[in-house]
Amino acid sequence: MKMDITINKNIFKRSAKKVLSCGLTLSILVTSVGLFSGCNELDGANNVPEHIFVYAENQSENYPTTRGAYKFAQLVNEKTDGKIKIIVKANGELGDEKSVVEQLEFGGVDFSRVSVASISDNIPKLKVIQMPYLYSGESAMWTVLDGDIGKEFTQAIQESGYGIMALSWYDAGARNFYSVKPLTSMSDLAGMNIRVQESEVMAKTIQLLGANPVKMIYSEVYMALQTGKIDGAENNWTSYEYSRHFEQAEYCLIDEHIRIPEVQLISEKTWNNLTDEEKDIISECAKESAIYERDLWRMADDSAKRTVIDKGVIVTKVSEEERSYFREKLQPLYDEYCSDYMDIIEKIQSIQE
Ligand code: GCU
Repeated sequence: MKMDITINKNIFKRSAKKVLSCGLTLSILVTSVGLFSGCNELDGANNVPEHIFVYAENQSENYPTTRGAYKFAQLVNEKTDGKIKIIVKANGELGDEKSVVEQLEFGGVDFSRVSVASISDNIPKLKVIQMPYLYSGESAMWTVLDGDIGKEFTQAIQESGYGIMALSWYDAGARNFYSVKPLTSMSDLAGMNIRVQESEVMAKTIQLLGANPVKMIYSEVYMALQTGKIDGAENNWTSYEYSRHFEQAEYCLIDEHIRIPEVQLISEKTWNNLTDEEKDIISECAKESAIYERDLWRMADDSAKRTVIDKGVIVTKVSEEERSYFREKLQPLYDEYCSDYMDIIEKIQSIQE
């Protein structure tokens, strides 16, 4: 019997947030059949696992991206005949998105699904897909991400030097504003403290709209709304409902200012330890899980919208005139962050004409 267990623990201290998170990767080589006999948890298929990987997800168990992660884990387990087992850790158990990305870099976490906003500060090209009012709608975004332009962004992630690789794009819908104070027009945002993701582009967007951006991790938003630390935030319908932010912030302004996709990542360290066949399976299953997530997303986002409205949220849709006015106000973002990528912006625009 030969057993070689590598346990890789990385503990990172984030100076800004003082978040301690611990990633655990088990890479287990077992040549003794029967070592895990009786251990049902480990063998979804016929073989005992050769690799046990950890997948970090900051949303709750039933959220579409988490269900996408479980689907991915199940597909990989089936297609490797049980040789690869992926353990999904939801609810931000392994830390907030930025600290998880750091853990991916060192191989302490193997997979994660994060919002593009959490990696775009370090990968300038990704700021393009974080520009407000970039797409005419959902289908335009998928034409872009599923096509050659999407591949350029995937490559930018791989070439970033941050030890991460993109496997697939997940949906996260369009984002709207919500507030504890009356919010029935974009001008009401002036002077409000609005929570943003830890992203330079998001902070600048809020500033240009006349509000004060407050960078904060997702899990702290509910309490910050409750205690008055912030007046409002912005997110998609599904997050607004699942995070229960709507209980505190009952005014919602639909402007769909931005569509920030989610990206499923793998640590380069993990990737490099896989065989070519395993790499193909992982890539294929990631894409299949993305199709699954996108289907779930549409249903979840519609249902979340109906649920919060039924629960009494006061919803206003901005007029086209107001949207165009604020679109103009946000033009400096394109000048500041996309001047090196105007060719991509033009391609994105031409796809939508
Ligand atoms: C979306 C996304 C999360 C992210 C959140 C945020 O809900 O799915 O991963 O953390 O936005 O606003 O921080």
